[in-house]
Amino acid sequence: MKFGYFDDQNREYVMTTPRTPYPWINYLGSEEFFGLISNTAGGYSFYQDARLRRLTRYRYNNVPLDDGGRYLYINDGGDCWTPSYKPMKKELSFYECRHGLGYSKIQGARGGLKVEQLFFTPLFFTGEVTQVRLKNETDRAKTISLFSLVEFCLWDAQDDMTNFQRNLSVGEVEVEDSTIYHKTEYRERRDHYAFFSVNSDVVGFDTDRESFLGLSNGFDSPEVVLEGSAKNSVASGWSPVGSHHIQVQLAPGEEASYIFILGYVENARDQKWERPGVINKARAHEMIAKFRTDDQVHAALEDLKSHWNSLLCKFQLTSGDEKLDRMVNIWNPYQCMVTFNMSRSASYFESGIGRGMGFRDSNQDLLGFVHQVPARARQRILDIAATQFEDGSAYHQYQPLTKKGNDAIGSGFNDDPLWLIVGTAAYIKETGDFSILDEAVPFDSDPSNTASLFEHLKRSFYHVINNMGPHGLPLIGRADWNDCLNLNCFSEEPGESFQTSGPSEGPVAESIFIAGLFVYVAPDFIELCRRGNLVEEARQAQMHMETMTQTVLEHGYDGEWFLRAYDAAGEKVGSKECGEGKIFIEPQGLCVMAGIGVETGEAEQALNSVAQHLETEHGIVLLAPPYSTYYPELGEISSYPPGYKENGGIFCHNNPWVMIAETILGRGERAFELYKKICPAYREDISELHRLEPYVYAQMIGGRDAVNFGQAKNSWLTGTAAWNYVAMSQAILGIKPSYDGLVIDPCIPPRWEAYSIVRQFRGATYQIHITNPNGVSQGVAKVVVDGEEIAGNKLPLFLDGQAHQVEVVLG
Ligand code: GLC
Ligand code: GLC
Repeated sequence: MKFGYFDDQNREYVMTTPRTPYPWINYLGSEEFFGLISNTAGGYSFYQDARLRRLTRYRYNNVPLDDGGRYLYINDGGDCWTPSYKPMKKELSFYECRHGLGYSKIQGARGGLKVEQLFFTPLFFTGEVTQVRLKNETDRAKTISLFSLVEFCLWDAQDDMTNFQRNLSVGEVEVEDSTIYHKTEYRERRDHYAFFSVNSDVVGFDTDRESFLGLSNGFDSPEVVLEGSAKNSVASGWSPVGSHHIQVQLAPGEEASYIFILGYVENARDQKWERPGVINKARAHEMIAKFRTDDQVHAALEDLKSHWNSLLCKFQLTSGDEKLDRMVNIWNPYQCMVTFNMSRSASYFESGIGRGMGFRDSNQDLLGFVHQVPARARQRILDIAATQFEDGSAYHQYQPLTKKGNDAIGSGFNDDPLWLIVGTAAYIKETGDFSILDEAVPFDSDPSNTASLFEHLKRSFYHVINNMGPHGLPLIGRADWNDCLNLNCFSEEPGESFQTSGPSEGPVAESIFIAGLFVYVAPDFIELCRRGNLVEEARQAQMHMETMTQTVLEHGYDGEWFLRAYDAAGEKVGSKECGEGKIFIEPQGLCVMAGIGVETGEAEQALNSVAQHLETEHGIVLLAPPYSTYYPELGEISSYPPGYKENGGIFCHNNPWVMIAETILGRGERAFELYKKICPAYREDISELHRLEPYVYAQMIGGRDAVNFGQAKNSWLTGTAAWNYVAMSQAILGIKPSYDGLVIDPCIPPRWEAYSIVRQFRGATYQIHITNPNGVSQGVAKVVVDGEEIAGNKLPLFLDGQAHQVEVVLG
């Protein structure tokens, strides 16, 4: 069952009912100011950091779900309703929500009045603009009252929801003309305020929540709206809100429009005040002046669209499969940019107050956006690397505002360092910018202690070598990629963090996953050594890689698949000898991606075992069979009920590893089959089961053993976005950036006859047309560039700003 449809022309998903199975959301903002918005106008906004600079309040896990947002109330001759359906939930004669790239448009009609709300954050603007258009579609004149509403958050979203003894006394506002200023704590240490304006006269306003709603009313029945007139309340403490009351007369067929701005302003310390107690509003006035007219709004929306166009045009596919095209061309790269901006901080499943930027997460996210914003990827790599310790270990997370490592979580996640090599290699392959390796980068954010980025990569590589266990496999530490496989934790206390309790290192527990990742990144590290003329360094690394490969085959292979780990007692994890958790997905994908056992058959056998034991109609589960009870020696993984999250859920992040692994074996049909199983556009028809947005990936889909098999959770902020993008664009479609050019090496279902890709790469546009006359999966028979056949399948670098025609024949 569907709840809408894709409008590929406009790059929108269109919801035709507000009753989606869950709030289906979108993100506003591209650089500093962001908003989350649901298809019923729920959500909130923040500047830079979702915890520390939260403009509007949001109550997670609220009842009803998703109450609170930016609301517009209508009182049309006593009939009160909201055009976004919620919060008043009055029947609408028309409803439509379009989520586009960086904007959302919600329309609702009732009683012959049509209302359209367009929400977006213009480029380089620290605020959210809402354009409201009304149309009287009846043949009678109407007198309408409009009431806007936002509820202010007292900035620190964590404190806002907990520290009531203080917070209910500190709220302060100012009102000037049609603008409401939220200035809580501005009198003391804050140099920032928010404002909420409208480009028209108002007949009244409210800034005190209780006055607006009434003490016992929810957002669905505000007293002021029901009574039809504002109270001009000025908040002092309690809960400040911003609400405008506008009155308008509309003749039959007449239209009106309004522009609301929710803005954020920072002032220099010595320019905070206009006069004692009155804030300096100059910057707010400037921002308001930018969006006085519909023309200004229109122009800014066009700018936003061309911004997205310039990002997406770097890779455009025409395959003849509309679901595939819309994922590759629009929604997957869009989600990659959102994960770049948000990391794992703010979604409808992440509260925006908990997690900072993950070291491993951010490096992996980079794989999905590096071609869109290479300069920002470069900065991101340097920021991440600066949180590394001298011994090569790394803070698991860092704070986006301070860019400092997060002490509360610390280090000891022994896969983390290796991802820095993965991210850096991807950046250099995309850009050819080897100079990044020479940048001086601090250790532990200490500017007086720096080394080149290359040296950081070397420490990452040797952190594995310097931390080996009894079998010569890497020690796992607190956890590897699987944050919930905590082999040194042994927690028995309810509520303790599985990630930070117990010793950070055990001398015994080893990870075959990290071993696979090590062998996977080694060729890049070796290549970077060679290019830096470090011949001996390269030779050493090569030796470590070969040894690790042998060790995995000797101690990390279980006959039919790769083992997962050895626990703190030296017992196997993910072995046929185990009662539960006999086989895990991660090492099968990663070890084959690393090429381990490809020549000797273990790789093929491992992937066949994945198909046999882990694959379901909704994707590949993380492990089987799931743990039925809690095992202290395994940690959080066994804390989840069977079939959810890491305990046998379909953890979408590592499904693409198996897709990529299948392409290493040349099995394009299998790779694409696996791709379609978790890909949201292919799951749109089962939206009632999937529940979450059909345009973006979710972190998890309930596994075979879950009560809710096939139901997704945790949409938007997941490494799934980047890895599926890599699996499709590079492994399957075969457009692979390499150090000195684009390599064309597809692995497709044999029945695909042809497809085309336009790829911008290092200052040239490659118009690539691939044909498959003999129905093969893999193998490039011929490459013709601008009319001339070239040897091999690496396209020349042109760096000339021109378009070049590339004809590829498979066979
Ligand atoms: C979450 C974490 C990620 C981890 C994964 C598996 O997505 O953000 O770092 O690798 O879970 O546990
Ligand atoms: C929790 C989650 C897991 C995530 C981890 C991040 O353990 O279950 O998915 O990776 O937190 O710290």
